[in-house]
Amino acid sequence: MDRDSARPVTSPDRHHSEVTLRVNGKPYPLTVDHRSVLLDVLREDLGLTGAKKGCDHGQCGACTVLVGG
Ligand code: FES
Repeated sequence: MDRDSARPVTSPDRHHSEVTLRVNGKPYPLTVDHRSVLLDVLREDLGLTGAKKGCDHGQCGACTVLVGG
């Protein structure tokens, strides 16, 4: 994912923002809840299941996503 790819575009309401994520060179415009975590957006909204939820405590690295190259 590119470092600048999660730049907010507009805010449809105070709890969501329209953003475009660029993942592996492909842009994905979407509306995200501010409480969303990147792993859930990648897996559930974009269907990109390469990153996994393992320990859910920052210890195993299964959810690691490389940002900005
Ligand atoms: S699920 Fe993220 S570090 Fe284990």
